[in-house]
Amino acid sequence: MTQDNKCKVVFRKDGKKIQLDDIDTGKTLLEIANENDVQIDQACGGNGVCTTCMVKVKSGSENLNEMTEKEEMMGLDPEQPEIRLGCQCKVNGGSCDAEIAF
Ligand code: FES
Repeated sequence: MTQDNKCKVVFRKDGKKIQLDDIDTGKTLLEIANENDVQIDQACGGNGVCTTCMVKVKSGSENLNEMTEKEEMMGLDPEQPEIRLGCQCKVNGGSCDAEIAF
């Protein structure tokens, strides 16, 4: 069980798994990665206009905010909620398991 204001995040990259517990909710996956020394490309600096931070959410997409207008403008499909921009999706609770640079 996680507290209401905490969540768990798993990042997967290059066959490695990085599990982060006790993360404050309401942060983007990119913010969480940056704060925990997990490398995600971010060419536009987190402004939602480059797609280099794209992640594939393996589980927990229901714990993320809805797809943003910027994500849709960058061609992401709300019908495919597992493909997100790390700088635009916030973890609102529970857990999220995301693959980086898939
Ligand atoms: S860092 Fe550029 S879209 Fe996320």
